Amino acid sequence: MRRYMVAGNWKMNMGPAAGRELAAAVQQKLAGRELGGDVLVCPPYATLPAVAEVAAGQPLLLGAQDCSDQVSGAYTGQISAGMLAEVGCRWVIVGHSERRQFQREGDEDFVAKITRAFDEGLKVIFCYGELLEERKLGRQADVVRDQLKGVLPRLTAADAGNLVLAYEPVWAIGTGETASPEQAQEMHAQSRQLVADIMGYPEAANMRILYGGSCKPSNAEELMGQTDVDGGLIGGASLKSDDFVGIVDGAEAALANT
Ligand code: PGA
Repeated sequence: MRRYMVAGNWKMNMGPAAGRELAAAVQQKLAGRELGGDVLVCPPYATLPAVAEVAAGQPLLLGAQDCSDQVSGAYTGQISAGMLAEVGCRWVIVGHSERRQFQREGDEDFVAKITRAFDEGLKVIFCYGELLEERKLGRQADVVRDQLKGVLPRLTAADAGNLVLAYEPVWAIGTGETASPEQAQEMHAQSRQLVADIMGYPEAANMRILYGGSCKPSNAEELMGQTDVDGGLIGGASLKSDDFVGIVDGAEAALANT
């Protein structure tokens, strides 16, 4: 049985003061509850230490939104996986569509970043998903296959314990338009089959595959109730404690129904 994960990606929102407040509010709402999954927040770099003061450890885990593909040295503006581990991160997101789009990152970058993260003991949420034009052309299955095949076979240290996948159709990110539960399930099942082809059956059965893209309290339970949807990567709705905890409630309700 796979534990669900609900991960908040705050993107470039919430400075240290606002971030500490948000994390404390989430922590307070979850306090004392026996959760059947993992709940994680990924603030911007500058906010990590403030959030670590209130949120590192149970039940709320801390993650970052990206890391450098280098270990250390003359790389102005970059942050290493080792530094993230030092400030209390246990997780890091790699391959988000906004990094693909705005920083032009691709497979080579992702392999290097994930490798650095594993070397420092961090676990990784690897994001992938098709663009609107690609879905309109019916190419989503090919795109997802290429994105997973370009990275997963080169991660020699990856397993279902240190890697989580996040299928995020780009047309659903921040648009208010969500993939239907059927669309999500179809892509997740296909992703799991690809993981089986690349990493073998036990890893595929245990690998958590999150859905991301306009996930909110009102659709979380139905999405996460799909057989191959093991939680969510949450952008906009992770910025309000009620909404974020509402999504955790959705994950719990989906779990209770299985
Ligand atoms: P959204 O973002 O929930 O605001 O659509 C999801 C993401 O980018 O991870």
